[in-house]
Amino acid sequence: MSRLPEGFLWGGAVAAHQFEGGWNEGGKGPSVVDVMTAGANGVARRITDTVEEGEFYPNHEAIDFYHHYKEDIALFAEMGLKCFRTSIGWTRIFPNGDEEEPNEEGLQFYDDVFDELLKYGIEPVITLSHFEMSLHLAREYGGFYNRKVVDYFVKFAEVCFRRYKDKVKYWITFNEINNQMDTNNPIFLWTNSGVMLKEGDNPREVMFQTGHHELLANALAVKKCHEICPDAKIGCMIGCVPIYPYSCNPDDIMAAEEAMHQRFFFPDVFMRGHYPSYAKKEFEREGYHIVMEEGDDKILEEGTADFLALSYYMSTVVKADVKNENLEGVVNGGLPNSVDNPYVKASDWGWQIDPEGLRYSLNILAERYEKPLFVVENGFGAVDQIEEDGTIDDQPRIDYLKSHIEAVKKAVLHDGVDLMGYTPWGIIDLVSFTTGEMKKRYGMIYVDRDNEGNGTMERKKKKSFDWFKKVIASDGEEL
Ligand code: BG6
Repeated sequence: MSRLPEGFLWGGAVAAHQFEGGWNEGGKGPSVVDVMTAGANGVARRITDTVEEGEFYPNHEAIDFYHHYKEDIALFAEMGLKCFRTSIGWTRIFPNGDEEEPNEEGLQFYDDVFDELLKYGIEPVITLSHFEMSLHLAREYGGFYNRKVVDYFVKFAEVCFRRYKDKVKYWITFNEINNQMDTNNPIFLWTNSGVMLKEGDNPREVMFQTGHHELLANALAVKKCHEICPDAKIGCMIGCVPIYPYSCNPDDIMAAEEAMHQRFFFPDVFMRGHYPSYAKKEFEREGYHIVMEEGDDKILEEGTADFLALSYYMSTVVKADVKNENLEGVVNGGLPNSVDNPYVKASDWGWQIDPEGLRYSLNILAERYEKPLFVVENGFGAVDQIEEDGTIDDQPRIDYLKSHIEAVKKAVLHDGVDLMGYTPWGIIDLVSFTTGEMKKRYGMIYVDRDNEGNGTMERKKKKSFDWFKKVIASDGEEL
């Protein structure tokens, strides 16, 4: 028997800011991503002070789901999706973030989207914060570095739980909360937390202080969700890029062991409810002063997540005696001592393709936390070619997804990992997070839009559309 269990949540994943567009419609305020310009492979996206006249911001229109949601959801239903993961654009609900009252037009938009999904029996899986903090909270308050922002987030979460409690059963507080462990590239602290490092800051100390506030916000939101939506499940999410030792040299083994703390720190706190010893030792050793108030321990302990959500795209490798110099533009999980893995190939964007790494990740996370897991992102960013007859043969994407679903099946059926579902990233083409490009496509549905914002926005099925439909219909048996 090689089917995944009945009830397994097959779906697709996106994020509001990467596909909705309508960046200033329906009362929406500007978010941290609305000031990010387009970049490219190896060319970082710029973060401008405000929305500048004449500058191109690819997320502003994105693929305009805001006006196409009915058509798009009909396609998702045709594919047979059991669930659909998206986020609630925080600034549609609280345009500045610190208002007393939420924006009704924004709330209504998500009611309409969720109703449309439920009409087809598609469960919404909803992320509360997928890089969408308001620009105002980032610029005026300093983002999550400022403890006041915890209250604003929790208020936003509570508004969403109360409004959508009868429509949403699966919640995720933060997307890839652990990206910010990489303080070399400013994009991560900015998008995770609305924080921009200043001259003289100790990056790691700022990151841990910010992280402490965000972990409190997570725990408080989890608790609220349990009170308001007792039948729902709420998780938090990490980007999982497992780190392998380059060799069996004990120095490489220890380099990988230590480097994995970069990946584990956040989930160690939000899954277990307390700080891990290696972090406490680092604070002590480095003299970091992380302000924690009385009662914070209890908040963390009482607000552990019901499940761990993860994205998985690639693995990386460390070698003890390597020292990479410039990590500023690195977006592929690279570390100061990362090297290429000689056993795997990479995508055109240098992301190492390693399906076994997904099985490995699921195993280590299941063993470490003993709670259900949910793969809420996995996918292959590639350039797609439209043939003369109008078809799009994206076989490399099918190959990537097929090998990763095989790994998922081994993890569940052979290793016994408790996995709630699998939602490949970018079920429909959208704006790339790290580069702002359209040509780095993930979708099984093509969208006619290019890097410069030209195109008709027409939707077209790719070859992978029918392939994934068959996979879902057979619960993963027919790959
Ligand atoms: C994850 C993010 O990091 O990876 C998504 O949660 C992102 O927002 C995805 O789009 C793929 O990254 P990219 O840069 O190829 O879009």
